[in-house]
Amino acid sequence: MVTKKRILNPDILRKFSFFASFSNEQLEEIISVAQKVALKTNDVVFRQGELSETMYLILKGSVRIDRENGEEKTINVARLNQYEVFGELAMLSKEPRQATVTVTKDAEFLVIDRALMLDIIRASKPEEIIEVFSVLSDQMRAANDREFKETLSRRTLEAQMEVEKQRALTQMVAGVAHEINTPLGVINTAVSIMARELAAPVEMTTQRAADIAESLELMRRNVERAHLLVQDFKKVSVSQLVDEKDTFNISEAIQETMDLVIATLKRSQIQIEFQDKLAPSAKTWTGYRGFLSQILINLLTNVERYAYPKGAGGTVEVKIDLEDNKHYRLTVTDYGKGISKENQARIFEPFFTTGRSFGGTGLGLAIVHNLVTNALSGEIRLKSEEGKGTVFEIIIPRIISE
Ligand SMILES: Nc1ncnc2c1ncn2[C@@H]1O[C@H](COP(=O)(O)OP(=O)(O)O)[C@@H](O)[C@H]1O
Ligand SMILES: [Mg+2]
Repeated sequence: MVTKKRILNPDILRKFSFFASFSNEQLEEIISVAQKVALKTNDVVFRQGELSETMYLILKGSVRIDRENGEEKTINVARLNQYEVFGELAMLSKEPRQATVTVTKDAEFLVIDRALMLDIIRASKPEEIIEVFSVLSDQMRAANDREFKETLSRRTLEAQMEVEKQRALTQMVAGVAHEINTPLGVINTAVSIMARELAAPVEMTTQRAADIAESLELMRRNVERAHLLVQDFKKVSVSQLVDEKDTFNISEAIQETMDLVIATLKRSQIQIEFQDKLAPSAKTWTGYRGFLSQILINLLTNVERYAYPKGAGGTVEVKIDLEDNKHYRLTVTDYGKGISKENQARIFEPFFTTGRSFGGTGLGLAIVHNLVTNALSGEIRLKSEEGKGTVFEIIIPRIISE
């Protein structure tokens, strides 16, 4: 923590609505003793439960406020930016902090101490004091509202996402069943041909032997294909149901998921290409097979639906590479329709879809975003231009700790 002694013009405080009711002299006094503190992204300003004696004014940057409440996970209560304040409850009482505050963009704060504030309040006129308390109570009410709404919408969302996950799985079951039909059909035909050939009371010629060998080879290939599909399906579906952390070959896991969607994509005239740029020694991932495949399935389904709609056909590239020593970079690139600037800002929002009329729920990318940033501790970036195509870039740690 870098602390600097004062340097600021008291007018800066006028930018904070919190100080609206303060007199110039009071602001002078605050600024003359307040300390300026600079913190970097991901630094924790204070933690829930710590004793509180200061409030913070954001001069620059932004923060995230998270609350842990017992049985629930962490709830992101708010994001605050320049000229907003937090920790103001400390001005009222020395209770433990109600939330944890983390810097999300390199920040500078002005830190105001409880003792100072009390001195100022003590020296104030009653109507000024009332004003200060009314600002404080407004802030608290707003914070409570935010938390309530946040909890409610998060619960709703979790339930919806669970439904969507089941739906994706059901769709996959249907798809795989359909896919297995094809090799089984081929095998069936090959068996009939062989049966006919062998039943006919004619001498075995080299030609007939060759025909039978060919049928056998066809059967072998198709049994293998069906076997592979069932195997991949088993791995992918089981891993999606249990969400267990595992150490495995990330390239193989990607390939297995791709195998499952390849046939569906082919029907829509979409070529899928896997570019595996990882050295063999870099393929071992300690992560979540099921999440990875859910992410891929969602992104690839979108390519089929939105990048190349109505069987227009095209190419999609799935690439795995190292971002740096500690991270993988997984990219899914299409050269299709693209996404407008306006929609780009919204596609990760739950329930945002341009495909409602054909069954879109708008949860696919919300799930992807959630899995990447929470379960996989990663990041997802989007690059898209209308008419040119879309790139989803996912950066995930090679070892997910926790
Ligand atoms: N590869 C893509 N190309 C063009 N648009 C896309 C692509 N992927 C997603 N989108 C857009 O993002 C929206 C949200 O996607 P998603 O969250 O998966 O919901 P849904 O698939 O139910 O519409 C889609 O409705 C579509 O407009
Ligand atoms: Mg989708």
